[in-house]
Amino acid sequence: MEQKITALRERFAFALSNVADPVALEALRVEYLGKKGLLADLMQSLRELSGEGKKQAGQFINALKNEVEQTIRSAAEAQQKAELDKLVNGAKQYDVTLPERTLHGSYHPISLVQREVEHIFVTMGFTVEEYPEIVDDYHCFEALNIPKHHPARDMQDTYYLNNGQLLKTHTSAAQNAIMRKYGAPLRAIFPGRCFRNESIDACHENTFFQMEGIMIDRDISIANLIYFMKTMLSEVFQQDIKVRLRPGFFPFVEPGFELDISCLICGGEGCPSCKDSGWLELCPCGMIHPRVLEMGGIDPNEYTGFAFGLGLTRLAMMRYGVKDIRDFNSGNLRVLAQFT
Ligand code: DAH
Repeated sequence: MEQKITALRERFAFALSNVADPVALEALRVEYLGKKGLLADLMQSLRELSGEGKKQAGQFINALKNEVEQTIRSAAEAQQKAELDKLVNGAKQYDVTLPERTLHGSYHPISLVQREVEHIFVTMGFTVEEYPEIVDDYHCFEALNIPKHHPARDMQDTYYLNNGQLLKTHTSAAQNAIMRKYGAPLRAIFPGRCFRNESIDACHENTFFQMEGIMIDRDISIANLIYFMKTMLSEVFQQDIKVRLRPGFFPFVEPGFELDISCLICGGEGCPSCKDSGWLELCPCGMIHPRVLEMGGIDPNEYTGFAFGLGLTRLAMMRYGVKDIRDFNSGNLRVLAQFT
């Protein structure tokens, strides 16, 4: 019997050392001191004894029971004290006079690229203009020399609203209003969100950002266009960027171009990113069509100008190595928080 009592004492000491919280302590109390607990079991086994042995064993068990009760009580008190200390210390550490902690937010990668490009153009004398996302047919198409039958007006591409207006499909939609507002000479960029009814995949979005720019003055030529684009892109990518122009058709420019930049991954050698061509298509552009100048109230015999429609979303993908365009509109803060 004595052995049993000693074994239980040791078992209790071991179990107590593993108790981490009040719930576990209460479970331990019930296990040892409960009506059907281990100590009650031990008392039951006294029945097997008699005489002096029984008396002595009874005393031992009672002593153990008192010991267990006392230890559990002390442990509970210690736990309560620790809890209280934690609260008090926590309260002490809280200093109401401290300034608030900055929230861990970050700018959207497209905002970051947009600001950067804006800054570069502002230093080159351009103003930054805003234009609504809901526009009319005239500004989005007609004033850009896009005739009625042009595929860009197809219902498949354009989101039309019930009132006949539409969501702007490109930032070029602001050209006319800005020309009318300022006249020539003029240097302006106008970033904006554009919408097209496209099916979405890793490379296509129905909601994306562009940055349009126009420069109108006397004697503006393609050389000016190339210079401004090259300077801007070299600043954005922090390296000397080679550009090349290929012919491209857009009704509002003549001639129109696709501007490519030397591949940033392979430096022009050819790699999977540039499909072995050494070039990446980045920015459609051209010399503003005389009809478009005219509709904007600017005399095409006196002034010429260039225009470009930079894909800001695409630029952000290149700049930050984003492989899936859907990440931008996902609202996934864990993705967005990487861009600081
Ligand atoms: N607005 C055209 C588009 O989104 C892009 C574009 C092409 C803009 C040529 C321009 C330009 O300013 O000159 O498809």
